[in-house]
Amino acid sequence: MNEQQSNHYDVIIIGAGAAGLMCAQVAGKRQRRVLVLDASDKIGEKIRISGGGRCNFTNLHASPSNYLSHNPHFCKSALAQFTQHDFTHMVEKHGIAYHEKTLGQLFCDGSSKQIITMLLDECRRGKVEVRTGERVKSVKKMDEGFSVCTDTMAYLCNKLVIATGGLSIPKIGATDFGYRIAKQFSLPVIEPRAGLVPLTFDEAVLSLIRPLAGIAVDAVVSCGKTAFREGLLFTHRGLSGPSVLQISSYWHDGDAITVNLAPNTDMFDWLKQRRNQTPKQDIHTVLTEVLPKRLALMLLERTGISGTLADLSNAKFETLERVINRWQIIPNGSEGYKTAEVTLGGVDTTALSSKTMECRTVEGLYFIGEVVDVTGHLGGFNFQWAWSSGYACGMA
Ligand code: FDA
Repeated sequence: MNEQQSNHYDVIIIGAGAAGLMCAQVAGKRQRRVLVLDASDKIGEKIRISGGGRCNFTNLHASPSNYLSHNPHFCKSALAQFTQHDFTHMVEKHGIAYHEKTLGQLFCDGSSKQIITMLLDECRRGKVEVRTGERVKSVKKMDEGFSVCTDTMAYLCNKLVIATGGLSIPKIGATDFGYRIAKQFSLPVIEPRAGLVPLTFDEAVLSLIRPLAGIAVDAVVSCGKTAFREGLLFTHRGLSGPSVLQISSYWHDGDAITVNLAPNTDMFDWLKQRRNQTPKQDIHTVLTEVLPKRLALMLLERTGISGTLADLSNAKFETLERVINRWQIIPNGSEGYKTAEVTLGGVDTTALSSKTMECRTVEGLYFIGEVVDVTGHLGGFNFQWAWSSGYACGMA
């Protein structure tokens, strides 16, 4: 093989993350000569840090309804081509022990590194070449195929796959490369923004939240017509926890969110009932039956309500119902890409084939994974999109 041939591949995939590695092993096993290039020295860093080091690699209930996109139908084809059960089967084949944590979320029993090892094993079987520390600087369309230049090398390929992910966690190598390539080829890009991210508040609200830092409650958090019931965590910077991360993907600047801090209890009816049953009980004692002590105290201080149940009017109960079952607050922003789990928006799906992920206007150019305007809920859905879109592209 001469120098020129050795740098010529059937497929080059830019990005050795979840989507890139999945695509590479599928294409490699289909006898394509595949090269994966990644700027980072480490492969699959996001897989490694995911799920607290245990990788929530898929979700038993994954379906198109778990994804946000300007075209909610776009993800259907890829998700059907390679399902959560297909990925779980692969995990089982590699002898990786896993468990369902909650709500269909599947995690490794051991370490997320097992998933990286599995993908690299599959890549080896497909004779895929993976080169790390190779930041791609530029891409050019040739008469046939593409040229791809890194700091040190130039490569040629027939098909080019962009799997460079989104903007979240720049510290571990997130770049806007995929969006720049899209723009270079005049493909529309839906404005990216941080998703699955803690929400922040101005001082008036933060001064209430800050003293509660560390407290977690089961809550329903809603924004418009969308609501999630999961844990909510008070932090020094604002609100976090699964329910808040979920709603952050639906939240836009200026929107209010509504928090129900006691979703099992209609506070108004319950307090009236308790006043009949135990009129001499102090309101603080009663509230601690449904809320953590510190939270109950803060709400009573804030509303100026105190005394025994017998002392309290229905109007006071209504006030408590409002601040506990319907606490309305307006975030002033989010923690941004520094802590966001995903990037919403990305390459507009109108530019891509939902079956193959190929660009409609640029033959041989594909986009997969998080760089595309398909974003999953929290709970293993984003990896499932990476596996499914990577598979669909690899098969094409
Ligand atoms: P990904 O970002 O994984 O990979 C892109 C790759 O491209 C990177 O390796 C990068 O170095 C490389 N690259 C970028 N620019 C380049 C250039 N110019 N040249 C060469 N290489 C370049 N999801 C889930 O389902 N379950 C979970 O448990 C979690 N947990 C989680 C925790 C944390 C902290 C984060 C930040 C995210 C998650 N996620 C998650 C989301 C999930 O990690 C994410 O959606 C996928 O990793 C996206 O996979 P991609 O392959 O698309 O991009």
